[in-house]
Amino acid sequence: MSGSTITPWVVGNWKMNPLQADAGALLKNFKQLLNEQNIAEAACHIGVAPTAIALTTVQNELAQASRHIMTVAQDVSRVAGTGAYTGELSAELLKDYGVEFVLIGHSERREIFADQPHIINEKVKNALNAGLTVIYCVGESLEQRESGQAEQVVLQQICDIAAVVQAEQWKQIVVAYEPIWAIGTGKTASPEDAQAMHAKIREGLSQITPMGLHTAILYGGSVKPENAVELAACPDINGALVGGASLNAESFYKIAQAFANTK
Ligand code: PGA
Repeated sequence: MSGSTITPWVVGNWKMNPLQADAGALLKNFKQLLNEQNIAEAACHIGVAPTAIALTTVQNELAQASRHIMTVAQDVSRVAGTGAYTGELSAELLKDYGVEFVLIGHSERREIFADQPHIINEKVKNALNAGLTVIYCVGESLEQRESGQAEQVVLQQICDIAAVVQAEQWKQIVVAYEPIWAIGTGKTASPEDAQAMHAKIREGLSQITPMGLHTAILYGGSVKPENAVELAACPDINGALVGGASLNAESFYKIAQAFANTK
């Protein structure tokens, strides 16, 4: 069972970065690199997940790029629709402003902002019902890996959302496997370990939905140009969710190029 025919996705997760001037320069440089040497849309989906305040500006900037680049929200409210919910940004508002993709369940949301599985499920349900594509993040901690629980934890996280994803909505799901111990640490899972977990995730997804065979499963955690080619060579790694290295136009471009050329 392998997902090697899936078009790869490379998505930059800017997290709570960068300041406005730096974001402008980053996008300008990235678009320039694409102008010099395009990465075909059919070879790799590319997306950028800026801070909520920058979504519209980034979207307008990306509309000027030589190819389609997705604008991705980093999170969404657990509350649907519109109403008296100070500080919240709903799936319907994202959709209305033209944002079609959203990250949900990033480990920083789970760990720092107490996004428990039931909250994540509300977010996933709202996003899917609003017609968004969800990049659903899963991953184990170092402690869980060292105690041999990694697979069980990750498969449970996959099963968690099955309660709210309707049969035909699985095509709106992309999975990002991000071992927590590899995020922002410079440590990457070995391609063998990452591939083994991705294959398990695909197997788990396929038991839930026939679309599991076609679900893009991205790897995240210290992806950089130096390790992108070997990660891209793994049959069940269908792209990357890139944090730190996405804040540098050249690094991000090289990662997208690695996936486009290797897949
Ligand atoms: P990193 O972050 O590439 O900086 O490790 C990845 C992520 O958290 O999405």
